[in-house]
Amino acid sequence: MREINASIPFDKALWKQDIAASKAHVAMLGAQGIVSAEDAAAISAGLDTVAGEYEASGVPEDWSLEDIHMTTESRLAELIGPAAGRLHTARSRNDQVATDFRLWVRDALDEADAGLAALQAALVTRAGEHAGAIMPGFTHLQVAQPVTLGHHLMAYYEMLRRDRSRFSDARARLNECPLGSAALAGTGFAIDRAATAQALGFAKPTDNSLDSVSDRDFALDYLMAAAQCSLHLSRLAEELIVWASQPYGFVRMPDALSTGSSIMPQKKNPDAAELVRGHSGRIVGCLTALMVTMKGLPLAYSKDMQDDKPPVFEAAGLLTLSLAAMEGMIAQAAFNTARMRQAAEFGYATATDLADWLVRQAGIPFREAHHITGAAVKLAESKGLALEALSLEELRAIDPRIDEGVFPALSVEASVAARASHGGTAPSEVEKRVAEARAALGMDR
Ligand code: ARG
Repeated sequence: MREINASIPFDKALWKQDIAASKAHVAMLGAQGIVSAEDAAAISAGLDTVAGEYEASGVPEDWSLEDIHMTTESRLAELIGPAAGRLHTARSRNDQVATDFRLWVRDALDEADAGLAALQAALVTRAGEHAGAIMPGFTHLQVAQPVTLGHHLMAYYEMLRRDRSRFSDARARLNECPLGSAALAGTGFAIDRAATAQALGFAKPTDNSLDSVSDRDFALDYLMAAAQCSLHLSRLAEELIVWASQPYGFVRMPDALSTGSSIMPQKKNPDAAELVRGHSGRIVGCLTALMVTMKGLPLAYSKDMQDDKPPVFEAAGLLTLSLAAMEGMIAQAAFNTARMRQAAEFGYATATDLADWLVRQAGIPFREAHHITGAAVKLAESKGLALEALSLEELRAIDPRIDEGVFPALSVEASVAARASHGGTAPSEVEKRVAEARAALGMDR
């Protein structure tokens, strides 16, 4: 029983939050006259001493004391005597752990936001450097149309912007204080819940004591946002891995974030990117674990809920590391823009530009233009030539409405420059988006 019951091996990570919530609680008990001013002061000073001990030598792990709450209270009793027993007036471990965990998750949300902002800044910086660098854009991982590297990197800026808004929504929902809900029904003591909520930086106290001690939505909100963020990171990681592969050669990953092989001396492996890709699986697993733990639990607190912490702690650690590793990779990646440009010329990436030219200059309906372009691509393919390397005679044999004005439209530069619709890949558009992003991130202040 001692072993299955103990949560101290993992919930000792909540010690700072536990001390802060206890100090807020006892200050309120003192102010309300529920505990004498003298006892309240002794408890508060004792809690500071315990905090100092934890800081200096870690939290002791005694399974018979079960969890961080009992561990701290028992040490407090050793330090200040029986007055320590007054701390637990008008509260229970149920509202205590709900409060501590909310405080911990609130910090984790802020940490995720900071990591995301740093990664966004790295993306925006590199996008600004490469706003005009042409690379193949892919659909189905087949060369589709030329795009710019800056445009591609800014796509991830947008994903991370949504991630930040999810974390920020989660923070707003989380920020109500359950302390004072007691075991499940509230308390008969004349407590001041608004005071403890305020002391701990919450917007207000929660409004239903049963919900307060049984709600773990805030942890699920965090994990859902973390899981979705990790999916984005895994997609970027995958692209870097593919781009770093020799047949692509689009990027050289920084040495500091790669490893060699123990047997093949020429190898340089993108391990950090692979681990970011892999960690997303574990983070999604953490979300799944807590969702299944919470499913079907009756009101109010059940001990199953003690299992809420390990998946959140694990996901937070993995997410922080993944964000930091990705920031380093993006900041230091050496993009081979010459190679990217060359790749954009293969694969008939400007075929759509030929079709668009036929529509614009010759008034041909798009479907017919698409058909004519298909024939031109087929001919170029059979001759092993690029589209613009076909002669005017060859093109006119396919459709006589084509004239020499078509050739400038077939370059990759013309292709990207033409796509200046809002959010398009034209360097001018990418530069605008980069400028907006720099302002939003406060990068030029
Ligand atoms: N260690 C417990 C947890 O993490 C604290 C709450 C215990 N409550 C109780 N009724 N046994 O959930």
